[in-house]
Order: sequence, then structure tokens, then C-alpha cells
Amino acid sequence: MSSNTDSPQGVQAELQRLRTAIAHHDYLYHTLDSPEIPDVEYDRLFQQLEALEQAHPELVTADSPTQRVGAQPLSSFEQVTHEIPMMSLAKVFNGEDLQDFEERIRKRLDTDAAIAYSCEPKIDGVAVSLLYEQGALVRAATRGDGVTGEDITHNVRTIRDVPLRLREQADTPMPARLEVRGEIYMSRAGFESMNEEAVKSGAKTFVNPRNAAAGTLRQLDPAIAAARPLHMFCYSVGVVDGCDLPQTLSETFGLLQSWGLRVNPERAVVTGAEACLAYAAKLLERRAALDYEIDGAVIKVNRLKLQDELGFNARTPRWAMAYKFPAEEVSTVVRDVEFQVGRTGTITPVARLSPVFVGGVTVSNATLHNMAEIARLGLQIGDTVIVRRAGDVIPKIVKVMNKADDDEPETPEEEQVERRPVVMPSHCPACGSEVEAAGEVLFRCSGGLVCPAQRKEAIRHFCARAALDIEGLGDKLIEQLVDRHMVKDVADVFHLNGEELAGLERMAEKSANNLLAAIDKARSTTLPRFLFGLGIPEVGEATALALTQHFGNLEALITADQAALEAVEDVGPVVAAHIVHFFSNEDNLEVIRRLQTAGVHWRDEEVAEQSDMLDGQTFVLTGTLEVMTRDEAKARLQALGAKVAGSVSKKTTWVVAGPGAGSKLDKAVELNVPVMDEPQFLAFLQEQEGLL
Ligand code: IVH
Repeated sequence: MSSNTDSPQGVQAELQRLRTAIAHHDYLYHTLDSPEIPDVEYDRLFQQLEALEQAHPELVTADSPTQRVGAQPLSSFEQVTHEIPMMSLAKVFNGEDLQDFEERIRKRLDTDAAIAYSCEPKIDGVAVSLLYEQGALVRAATRGDGVTGEDITHNVRTIRDVPLRLREQADTPMPARLEVRGEIYMSRAGFESMNEEAVKSGAKTFVNPRNAAAGTLRQLDPAIAAARPLHMFCYSVGVVDGCDLPQTLSETFGLLQSWGLRVNPERAVVTGAEACLAYAAKLLERRAALDYEIDGAVIKVNRLKLQDELGFNARTPRWAMAYKFPAEEVSTVVRDVEFQVGRTGTITPVARLSPVFVGGVTVSNATLHNMAEIARLGLQIGDTVIVRRAGDVIPKIVKVMNKADDDEPETPEEEQVERRPVVMPSHCPACGSEVEAAGEVLFRCSGGLVCPAQRKEAIRHFCARAALDIEGLGDKLIEQLVDRHMVKDVADVFHLNGEELAGLERMAEKSANNLLAAIDKARSTTLPRFLFGLGIPEVGEATALALTQHFGNLEALITADQAALEAVEDVGPVVAAHIVHFFSNEDNLEVIRRLQTAGVHWRDEEVAEQSDMLDGQTFVLTGTLEVMTRDEAKARLQALGAKVAGSVSKKTTWVVAGPGAGSKLDKAVELNVPVMDEPQFLAFLQEQEGLL
């Protein structure tokens, strides 16, 4: 570049070239979500620009991409009066009320004609207004009370989705003034990792992505916003001077996008209330797969002239409606905290809640993980708490409600439970053995397999689908078998007989026979299933598979030492130590011998071989998987002969999308690559593995 930048004109040209190139790639990346160059190349352009600007500070412009974070934190916020007030939306919760909405529109417009609507997700973030003058971003403000908001330009400038300068359009003049409105939000994935970091460093965590976004925009120092995963979707236009808008909202979205503003790819134009409902139903299904939180669908009359004709009520437009989805956060009362004993004796506090409807289901329990979590939340029994259940994720208590907070959802049903602290019991609730500390925050029952709770969990694990898969041997039955001393360990399961089973509650002869048949069938298994079923700490399905592929048979594994185990891919010192420890325990070896004597067997050669069942198929895993880890999913796919790739292309056979899936899922939809969610994926894997 040096030859270019010898003269002042050369410097200017080069600055121009770099800024244009960066703006172009910003547009591709942030607005269209389809980058053309790898991140490193983008970074190189950026560094070149920074270096050149450093050498020529007098040539730095405010809309240069390097100038997103201003130098100085503010000392206070300026007030901004919205020229056109920022309204809110009327809400409906069911189809009938949506039909009424359409009815009212038809009446007002005095028409029987079909009405076209623009439908979009209702983003759960912070409403903002952006003002562009001659194409340059000059101000960003919060909605505030709808009339007066706060100037948050310094923070909004740091958001890469928000262009500092609009792209010129050949066929549309650049408006002298353009006010664009939309929602700033924090991505789900970004929120999760930010909170994980906060927990690690002992900092305060945010309750949800919306609070995190709002809290970030309220900061005086823009460096904070610059470091946080904020994004924006634009959804309407306020003031426009010097440019005619198209006739419809959907075309306006197209124009906003060509100016470089980001609009929601889930938007659609449909006709009639019925179709709006279908849109909302589909969106609700997609909810967990989106990388941002939504709380409903927004339905807007698409034709702008009709919007004008319909006008406004006191606070809401007559041409738009929010169709609300079930809340993912509600408040309820913690009636009690009980302690559960896991397979390895870990004692976990579980909150018993006053039942509430959240995220589409009724929830009455929430795990509290450990005592440190309870301390972090400052939770006591009797507290009113906010329970959150997003997607299919396990319900979680995210906050103890401080009575002074008034921006939180209302308690559905007040319930008086005497307030008292949560105390870890000194003795195991299941067997009475002493509870001992295990690490910094964990507690464990010292009873080992004497403890019926641990025994039940171990048996449950052994019989589970991914292990020996004994159909019909569910929680209730295991409970009875252990409580009646009919089964002490997993080997006893294979000695059950019809007579004994017939004495159990709700056990008809037919189900007893079915169960015996299922147990018999489970005698013939695979080594990975068997190993996984043993419940060696840290040995999940993928590790069990890797161990099998490495050692080929159980004997070799039992006799392997620490070093031999660490030679297995993905087995580190901790896992290896657990395995050595497990097989050095004579009781464990005895159980294994008894299982083999009872006829449990597998074919060593078969499992050591790779299957070619899914040969030639490529999978992409995206979002969070809840039942298994990504590694496990990958190992199981590979064991079936499939390839697992990092990005979606036309060659991708399937995309497996968990909650929080983002651009990869969008890409799959765009390329027509079939997508499965985790339950479908599990069923698929099981089916394929069953064919082995
Ligand atoms: S349109 C005149 N579209 O919902 C109404 N609002 O109660 C203009 N919101 O304050 C709003 N996603 O923060 C609109 N796609 C969307 C939206 C959306 C989220 C929020 C917005 C507004 C509130 C309405």
C-alpha cells in the first residue's frame, strides 16, 4: 500500500477504498447475514484502516468504522423529544381476538376485501429510534415514555448492525432526514456466555437478555456496550424528509435493508387473520431455534395508505396488533426446598414451587443446582421468585423478587409460606448417612450403594435408553424394587422372576411378562451401551464409544492403566482416573461378573468396527443440544459413518438445530437443507443405531 499512500491524494483514496470495502463487508455480514470473506480478512482491512488513520489523525471522520466507540464516557444522558411519539401495541392472546381485530379494520375501512398483513416476530428487547441526516447516523434515543426518551447515541454507535452511514441507492434519493425505529436486543448465545463469564468472575449476572440489553444501553461508558453482544432489527419508519416511501411496509423493509439497516428475516406478508394465525403458530414453533427472545408476533396492515386511514387510538395504532405468546418468565412462590440424591451421591437442592404456567407448560419444580446458587440468588423458602423456561430448557429460578421492584411480572396467586433459610441437611434424606462436602460447592451422601437413592439412580441409568434400554423398567418400578429389597444392584435385575413381579403394585401378568421379555432382550447389548450403563463418572456415550473403539473388548479396558487410557482420543487425566478407580473396586468387578453370568453379552468385533450406515451424509449441529453434548452427538454420527461439518452448504444432508441456533439455521432454510430438532434427531439416531 505504501506506493499508494505517498501523496495526500493517495492517502485519501486509500482511506476511501478501505472504508468502502469495510462498509460493504459490514453490510454483507450484519445486514444480509451472508459474509463473503473470512473474519481474518475483514480484520486485516480494519487494521490497515486503523494504521492509516493513526498516521493521519486529521483525516479521521465520525462515520469511519473505527470510530464506533467514542473516546469519553458521558457524565449524563440528554433528553430527546420524539417528533412523532413512539406508540405501543395493543395485545391479543388468542385467535378469536385477532379475528375481531381484522373485523374492526374492515368496518373502519368499510371493505369486505382481503387485508394483507406484514407479520414479524415481536422482539423482546429495547425499542429505539435512530435518526439519519443526509445518510449519517446523528442520534439514537430510547423510547422512554413514548414522548421523551434518552440520547444513547454513544452506545448505539458501537452496535455493528447499526450502520453509521446509509448506503446510497441509485433509484431512491437519500432522505434529508430519516428516523428508523426498531428493537435492540442481546443474542441468546451472547447473553449465556456473558453470564457464564460473570459467574466465573463473581460479577453480577443479568436475569434475561432484555434486562441485559437495557442495562447495557443505560451505561454512560460506550466501551461497555462495545464489548457486549447487542444487535438490532428495524421495524418501522418515523420521520422522513426528502424521500417518498414505497406503498407497503414490506417494500419499505426492502428499502431499509438496501440502505444497510437490518430487518428481520422471519418477516412475511400474508392475507387475512387466519393466515396471520398460521404465521404466529409457525413462529411459535421456531421460537426456541431463534438466537433472540421473542414474546409474540406483530401483525401490521401492510399498505401504508390503509395504515394512515386507520390511524391511532390513544396509545396504540389501529393497524397493528401484538399476538402474544405464553410468557417464558413468570413469578411464583417457593413453597419448600428439598434435597435429591443423584447417582454418584451428589445432593442437589430442588425448589418446590407453587405451580405456574410458563413457556407453555405447568411447572412445579426447579433445580437450584447447588448451595452456591442459592447463596447467589439470596433465596429463602417462602420467597417470591421469577421462574424462567425458554424453549425446552429445564425451568430455572433466575431472580428472587425484591418487593421494591415494580417492573416485574405480577405474582399470579399470592401464597403465604413462612420465610426461612435453606439449610443443607447434615444427613442424607434417603439413607441417613452423613453428608460430606465434595469440592467447593458440592455435597455428597457418604452412603455409597448403601443409599437407596443412589442405587435407584444407578439402576435407572443402567436401564435407560442409551444404556441397556430395558423398556418398561421405569422410575416407579425401580423405586418399588429397591424399596422392597428385590433389587440391590443392576445385576439383580436379571434375576427377577414373574412371581416376584406379580406381587408389585400395578403389575398385571401381561406387563410382568412384557418386562421379563424386555430384560431378556437387553441381555444382548453392545459394549458402548454396557460401559455407558455402568455409570462411571464422566464416561458419557461418546467416551464409552471411544473406549470401545480403542480397546475392542472389556478385559483390555479393565486392565488398562492411566497412561493407556489417556492415549484414547478425548480421554484426559480426570476421566482416565475415574475409569481406573472404578475398575479397581472389587465390588464393581463383582457386579460386572454377575451381569455376565446372568447372560449379559455383546459382540466385541462388531462394535469395534465403524458402520457405513450414514456414509456420504454430512450433518451440521447448531444451537444447544440438551439431552446430549455436541461431542456425543458428533461421536454417534461418526460411528454411523456420517461426516459432521462446521458450516452449512448445499452439500449438507441435515442440520440439527437446538435452541439458540442462529445463522446456520437461517442458511439451512435458505438452501432448503432439511432441519431436525433434538427430539427428532434422537429418534433418528436411535433408529439408525437400532439397525446396526
Ligand atoms: S411495531 C406503533 N414491531 O413492542 C407501534 N414493535 O408494545 C410500533 N416490538 O415498544 C411498534 N418487536 O418495543 C413493532 N416487530 C416489531 C416489534 C415491536 C418488538 C416492541 C416495541 C414496542 C412494543 C409494543
